[in-house]
Amino acid sequence: MTHDVRTLDPDQLRSAHILFGSTIHRGPVDDEWWSRAATSYSPGRTVGIHDGGALVGTAMAFPSRLVVPGGGVLPMAAVTRVGVRADCTRRGLLSAMMRAQLDDVAARGEPVATLRASETRIYGRFGYGVATRGRDLRVRVGRPAWRPDAAQGGSVRLLDRDDIIPTLREVHEGIALTRAGSMTRQDSWWWGAIGRRVEDREPVIAAVHTGAHGDDGFAVAFRTDADSFSEQTLEVADLHAADMEATAGLWRFLLDIDLVSSVQAELRPLDEPLELLLSDPRACAVTGHHDETWLRLVDVPTALAARSYGAAEPVLLAVHDPLLEKNAGVYRIAGGGAERVAPLGSPMQPQLECDVAALAMAYLGDRSPSQLVATGWWRAHDGAAVHRADAAFTTSVTPWCGTHF
Ligand SMILES: CC(C)(COP(=O)(O)OP(=O)(O)OC[C@H]1O[C@@H](n2cnc3c(N)ncnc32)[C@H](O)[C@@H]1OP(=O)(O)O)[C@@H](O)C(=O)NCCC(=O)NCCS
Repeated sequence: MTHDVRTLDPDQLRSAHILFGSTIHRGPVDDEWWSRAATSYSPGRTVGIHDGGALVGTAMAFPSRLVVPGGGVLPMAAVTRVGVRADCTRRGLLSAMMRAQLDDVAARGEPVATLRASETRIYGRFGYGVATRGRDLRVRVGRPAWRPDAAQGGSVRLLDRDDIIPTLREVHEGIALTRAGSMTRQDSWWWGAIGRRVEDREPVIAAVHTGAHGDDGFAVAFRTDADSFSEQTLEVADLHAADMEATAGLWRFLLDIDLVSSVQAELRPLDEPLELLLSDPRACAVTGHHDETWLRLVDVPTALAARSYGAAEPVLLAVHDPLLEKNAGVYRIAGGGAERVAPLGSPMQPQLECDVAALAMAYLGDRSPSQLVATGWWRAHDGAAVHRADAAFTTSVTPWCGTHF
């Protein structure tokens, strides 16, 4: 069955917003809410499918930029608000929208697309793979004495409510776009994630860390609902830090606030070593692990050429991409870079082989080629090439985004 995927006009976006909301079990929005939410839609980037005049499927994207290993920055489509009306699911509507959207992203010259997945079984078939992950932490206050050697220095200042968004936007732009996996945020993101809660007069802690070279980190935390007066819990909504001194300074600040008995945070970087800074590492409990960024390499030659590689002898990697066949081919990857050297099926025999989703799992450095070979995501025709690929793809810093959208 074919579906007619159309780019929605501006006057259809509110219907798309309400449709998406209904698919994640949220009610319709009022005029005031819509006047703010409307600004998060980029012109010409929302698609829809109609049935009998009613909108029954939708998906959108907004332009962003993604940091790749080595510090390069690629234009990126941030895909979100994907939903199909409950009485129209499993008829191929999402598949039709995903194909149309990938073609559109490619035509716009955005080499990568990322999204956050409501369920893990949805997006792999469209070439998306998990490229960054995070862990949830809960730290009990009272027990976390800091190790004497734990990084310290700099100062922390609390922000007035009116200053929160402008200040954090500026600090984020200054520090966050260094780690592979991080992305730029649009203004509407700040309002949707933090600004609206501040406007709603929720209790908020928003603080900036200043180190030797200026502002180098920030944290935003809200109080959770299930609190007692003397044992309140803070939920970290956003925390970015340029270095270990800023990371430690912000966590110290949060954990020292009076009448707070625990601080919790979701999707923190896998390599944020909070427990190593505490004299009792068990005071920092890891309460969950989750996938964060789902990455689609839309233009594989451009994406592979954009990142840096560790010193390694060349590896020949065959990449399959049934949806965007121009990506298929044999790529030569070495310490000096990557390029396509042959089409699939040519006499040039690849040493390793994977599909585009499994390539995304290694692209930012989250998974090593040897892990992916051992678990069947990549296939190896030459065992020695696996170690060379590990050396090429390895990154010194674990990739992480820290922007939920
Ligand atoms: C997820 C969703 C968009 C899928 O839409 P859909 O139109 O049913 O998807 P399709 O019919 O194109 O499905 C394509 C394939 O993916 C599978 N699939 C789709 N959604 C799935 C899910 N949630 N769980 C398991 N499989 C799923 C289908 O079974 C189908 O497999 P097949 O080709 O082997 O038959 C829709 O179920 C939805 O709106 N869910 C609620 C909102 C949501 O989670 N949105 C995603 C936000 S990130």
